Amino acid sequence: MEKNQLKSLLTDMSLSEKAGQLLQIHGRWFLEGGYEPSTGPALEFEITEEQAYSAGSVLNETGAANLKKLQDKIMSRQPHRIPALFMADVIHGYKTAFPVPIALGCGFDPGLIERISAAAAKEASAAGLHVTFAPMADLVRDPRWGRCMESTGEDPWLNARYAESAVNGFQGADLKEKGKIAACVKHFAAYGAAEAGRDYNSAEVSERTLFEDYLASYRAAVKAGAALAMTAFNAIGRIPCTANERLMRGILRGDMGFDGVLISDYNAIEETITHGVSVDKREAALKAIKAGCDIDMMSDCYIHNLERLVTDGIIPESLVDEAVMRVLELKNKLGLFENPYKGASAEDEHEFILCEEHKRLSREAAAECITLLKNGGMLPLPIKGKKIAVIGPLADSKEILGTWAIFADRGRVVTLRQALEELYPEAEISFAVSGGLDEAAGAAADADAVIILLGEDESFTGESRSRADISLPEGQKELFDAVYRANKKIITVLLGGRPLAIPETAEKSEAVIMAWLPGTYGMYSLADIIFGKINPSGKLSMSFPYCSGQLPMSYNALNTGRPKPKGDGFNLYFSNYLDVPNEPLYPFGHGLSYTEFEYSDIRLSSGVLTAGKPLTASVTVRNAGKTAGKESVLLYIRDLKASVARPIRELRGVKKVFIPAGGEAEVSFEITEETLRFYDINMEYKSEPGEFTVWIGDKDMNFSLRDD
Ligand code: BGC
Repeated sequence: MEKNQLKSLLTDMSLSEKAGQLLQIHGRWFLEGGYEPSTGPALEFEITEEQAYSAGSVLNETGAANLKKLQDKIMSRQPHRIPALFMADVIHGYKTAFPVPIALGCGFDPGLIERISAAAAKEASAAGLHVTFAPMADLVRDPRWGRCMESTGEDPWLNARYAESAVNGFQGADLKEKGKIAACVKHFAAYGAAEAGRDYNSAEVSERTLFEDYLASYRAAVKAGAALAMTAFNAIGRIPCTANERLMRGILRGDMGFDGVLISDYNAIEETITHGVSVDKREAALKAIKAGCDIDMMSDCYIHNLERLVTDGIIPESLVDEAVMRVLELKNKLGLFENPYKGASAEDEHEFILCEEHKRLSREAAAECITLLKNGGMLPLPIKGKKIAVIGPLADSKEILGTWAIFADRGRVVTLRQALEELYPEAEISFAVSGGLDEAAGAAADADAVIILLGEDESFTGESRSRADISLPEGQKELFDAVYRANKKIITVLLGGRPLAIPETAEKSEAVIMAWLPGTYGMYSLADIIFGKINPSGKLSMSFPYCSGQLPMSYNALNTGRPKPKGDGFNLYFSNYLDVPNEPLYPFGHGLSYTEFEYSDIRLSSGVLTAGKPLTASVTVRNAGKTAGKESVLLYIRDLKASVARPIRELRGVKKVFIPAGGEAEVSFEITEETLRFYDINMEYKSEPGEFTVWIGDKDMNFSLRDD
């Protein structure tokens, strides 16, 4: 449709039709038996059938045949036959689940994220979906928050790369293209800063930290062209985001230039009443529409109040028109006026969903993300000649995808047991997966090597799954101890969607692997890592603390006026704890390989950088071991003195390279004046001349930034 046709459509619509376009209801509403809320406080959703069929979008319903039928039904009830948007959470895969985003962060490979998102879009689009509620770009520094699983972790720069790559993968160059769906960056803003890691809790972040750290990834997604954004449940600075005009109109639309559709989170408009800033649904609707929120997801605030707010003269109709126009424009960009079913196709569902290519990608992704945290030399295991005991219920559990893999086919999940039996039939492996202490101890006593699976199944992470204590779940320490008493040759494999506090378990284990929630076929890659067919290359995108008391934490902290002097032990009147170290057990960027990578000194093209003359920092990375492998080469920067305190180091570049045994790779990064920008004392985003340190691997060097 041409822009003028969209305009005349809008002009021709009644006010109640317009309000309908701004309503999103759950697909189940249209099923026989009516609607039952799936998440959140019980809703009294009082809408008439007519209002339901006026909805501009439908949530979490899927399937090509089903959605084609639903589209016909909705369009036939609309005076202007406007097609509905079908939106759903396709976070890390549709039916084929890929590793959870926190794991994908450890892959340090934006290109991989783009390919995964494209694969997810292909499956979802065939199933009739038009929009995914992804990427979740929330920065998180507190693993008590269960939703850290949906984020790439604690680093703003890495999160920004994740967010933009996901948007590119989902959307491609043109939303009308086959297999592409619109991306919705969420949750705006700082949802991941929930105090004490308790979901939905308020965030207290300074303006500078908000702009510099928390907004970076949303900004990157917007720049990449995310068609939608979602508001956050939380309040920042005591203002619920969904009712925050400065945040939405000022920062998101104004500063960042977002011109897409802004949707509330589930029932978030109504929840401004419980936050205590709206007296009733009418005021909630008023605040949200004024703040710039276009679609009301799963509350009836807009549908019951927008019309009257206009006819009572409280808001101009143009405010509603503006929101409706954005919804119509999105439908137009997706080509729905020409083809309301978009990619929905039973044949394509059959061809793409869980296809061989996606299976391979799921394995590849897990291979890139699984992170070797400790290896005293036991890994990799020889395929023959050792009796291996695999212990723990998680070794044969299919609950290893993540709670946001809502459409994933759990029947297809390959467990570690299945993967080992299928790929390594010649290995001598016994399984003790009941969780019983005697069974576990017996199997361990009889083995030359023990692999114990600990950590969290998928039910521990995701929305609302916060934990105050992120040590091993109940009963697992006892299981580990029973095994340890019987055999000390232990390889601990951890599963889960968050870093865990496991200092004692790690100490007592010969080797530790973080396998995260690896996706439908990820366990094949874990099996290959165990036997050395794959050389692990994951590096942590989120620190593993010693204990929950250290939280929140992140590597890119400020120095403080009294940083702890180097060395072990407590230092009085310095910034440290009496009882635990300041450092994490395993820091951001930590991850081992079966080979050794040696870094040369850094070579700088010049010791001085100016705005017109960027510099290049290069290293030679040598694979000094006997095994080929991949290395994520990370570049960090520190601004040694500025008008505001700057982090002790910040990631500014990543290159993942494959290096054959004995081989070398030249790795170069460009450092520009832009790389060195930050929010200065006046909240202006700029660099300041002075001295900087650059690190690549374990090497560092200084350079200066000067005015041109
Ligand atoms: C979550 C969102 C999600 C939405 C729709 C909410 O509870 O916070 O991330 O997109 O539900 O399922």
